[in-house]
Amino acid sequence: MDDIKIRQIAVDDVYYSQIYDLREEVLRKPIGLSLKNEDLSGDADDIILGAILDNKVVGCLMIHPTDAVHKVKIRQMAVADEWQGKGLGRMLMTEAEQHSWRNNKTHIILHARVTAQPFYDKLGYHTTSDVFTEVGIPHVVMEKMKP
Ligand SMILES: CC(C)(COP(=O)(O)OP(=O)(O)OC[C@H]1O[C@@H](n2cnc3c(N)ncnc32)[C@H](O)[C@@H]1OP(=O)(O)O)[C@@H](O)C(=O)NCCC(=O)NCCS
Repeated sequence: MDDIKIRQIAVDDVYYSQIYDLREEVLRKPIGLSLKNEDLSGDADDIILGAILDNKVVGCLMIHPTDAVHKVKIRQMAVADEWQGKGLGRMLMTEAEQHSWRNNKTHIILHARVTAQPFYDKLGYHTTSDVFTEVGIPHVVMEKMKP
């Protein structure tokens, strides 16, 4: 884990295609969907964090601006299969929170897959909605305020 570095990745960065591939493998293929059918133009507005080991992206998330100036939405949280359960998701979320709080954001919102709800629970996120369907699977809204 010590060798993994988290860095910000722009859409014209060489690592962006690896971010795309990881999202496709971890977030879309298992539910029978493809990013090819989605409009990804909004990616350019996001702060994209990648976890990199030996020039390979092994985890990512994206911080998306919202209409509310102090609120951001975290989306596309993914850890490569072989790295899951080793603390990398927590490391990426901690980095995203620190980045957000540093930049005068006070409120983080996300749409959690119900299967990942316990992960966000452990990081202090509160469920604030009923279950709803997104990308064909159950989700809930979860939120955290700046401590
Ligand atoms: C969900 C995901 C991002 C978590 O990342 P991770 O690196 O595997 O999680 P971590 O190892 O940092 O786990 C942190 C804590 O959450 C727990 N946790 C992680 N995923 C969990 C899950 N799905 N269910 C229950 N607990 C979970 C871990 O056991 C750990 O608990 P601990 O602190 O008591 O040891 C990752 O497993 C993943 O990419 N899953 C597939 C895609 C996905 O569901 N993304 C989220 C979409 S909303």
